[in-house]
Amino acid sequence: MTATDALPAETPATGDSTPLLDVRDLKMYFPVKSSGVIRRTVGHVQAVDGVNFQVRAGESLGLVGESGCGKSTTGRLVTRLEKPTDGSVMFEGRDISQIGARELKPLRREIQMIFQDPYGSLNPRHTVGTIIGTPLAIHDILPRKQILPRVQELLEIVGLNPEHYNRYPHEFSGGQRQRIGIARALTLQPKLLVADEPVSALDVSIQAQVINLLQDIQREFNIGFLFIAHDLAVVRHFCPEIAVMYLGKIVEIGERDRIYEHANHPYTQALLSAVPDVGQAAIGGRRERIQLTGDVPSPINPPSGCRFRTRCQFAQEICAKVEPPLLQIGARHKVACHFAGELGHHPAEPVTAPLLGVDRHGDPAPGATPEELPGTDSSYSDSWYDFPGRRIVRADEV
Ligand SMILES: Nc1ncnc2c1ncn2[C@@H]1O[C@H](COP(=O)(O)OP(=O)(O)OP(=O)(O)O)[C@@H](O)[C@H]1O
Ligand code: SF4
Ligand SMILES: [Mg+2]
Repeated sequence: MTATDALPAETPATGDSTPLLDVRDLKMYFPVKSSGVIRRTVGHVQAVDGVNFQVRAGESLGLVGESGCGKSTTGRLVTRLEKPTDGSVMFEGRDISQIGARELKPLRREIQMIFQDPYGSLNPRHTVGTIIGTPLAIHDILPRKQILPRVQELLEIVGLNPEHYNRYPHEFSGGQRQRIGIARALTLQPKLLVADEPVSALDVSIQAQVINLLQDIQREFNIGFLFIAHDLAVVRHFCPEIAVMYLGKIVEIGERDRIYEHANHPYTQALLSAVPDVGQAAIGGRRERIQLTGDVPSPINPPSGCRFRTRCQFAQEICAKVEPPLLQIGARHKVACHFAGELGHHPAEPVTAPLLGVDRHGDPAPGATPEELPGTDSSYSDSWYDFPGRRIVRADEV
């Protein structure tokens, strides 16, 4: 039996113009409290700070970055396990960022999450049948007697023995438990799945199987995916679009080939140098790994200007003074760097300065006015900056 046989109602695709998910200027600042009896707010962890991206129905975006950069928080905001401090989460054109519990309930069917730790996310006291079947009962989707056959169909879809519905999570291996988590996420036929490092707790030999399963499911049910991972190797085969995050911000986003073959941000280039089979062009013909020096700074007090500057080998004065905007530099490619360029071809002068109305040091340039910047929202514009050519190009010119 295929997945399609078991779950007949394929999710209708969202219309071309409205993305399934449209995240705009999303922010999550967690308050930091003082110790003592009166606990005052003494600062904020800027876990997510102005993130923009879209996911279309049936497509998948990979969200990549080091530990603590805000990937899981972004996932939890999109699934509304947390309420954002600011910004919007548009799901099928409707802003769900601030809605209350009652309005959220029907959305829980449409947006599901798969977690990193397959054991921690499954209740050890419940049988697999209960774990997978409960959402069907809560949402009143099927009459009671039809729940068990549906659970068995779902077990079969994820490659488990349908007769094992009466077993407990500890009776399964790590890979099998993740399959149970996937079956549970599929129960309500979601339109969007947020997978937060779904394979990083698994043996390397099992990782590929689980990724293949997710890919099959995505195709069969036309599910949109936000796929969160630590490194660029895992998302490579799954996601046609990749976003790279650093300290609460997206620093580069684009089509897979643009990211893997023509990365423009020094952080993406460093991450790519750790991926064994990446094209040499992407890392400037270098074979050695680009070592990132120093620790990731605290998101409570992030560096001024470009947050990556304390670890960037190309940083100059402007990087401390002016935050580089995420600018569109190709049909589906954006980067946030004053010295954006492929490795070995970073410009000597800040390419952003004329657009931002500042001089090469980042100070206001007399008489200059900042330009209106196309493509800085969550979508891609049909015109973008050709930095080497120092001009704006339009899609119909290329
Ligand atoms: N509930 C919370 N209260 C305060 N700070 C939080 C909370 N949740 C997350 N943070 C902080 O927000 C930042 C981003 O955390 P997040 O879990 O989103 O990172 P991540 O990219 O998923 O990391 P990892 O790869 O380790 O899973 C971290 O500095 C983290 O300590
Ligand atoms: S803006 Fe400056 S510090 Fe930031 S990545 Fe670019 S060169 Fe490095
Ligand atoms: Mg995480």
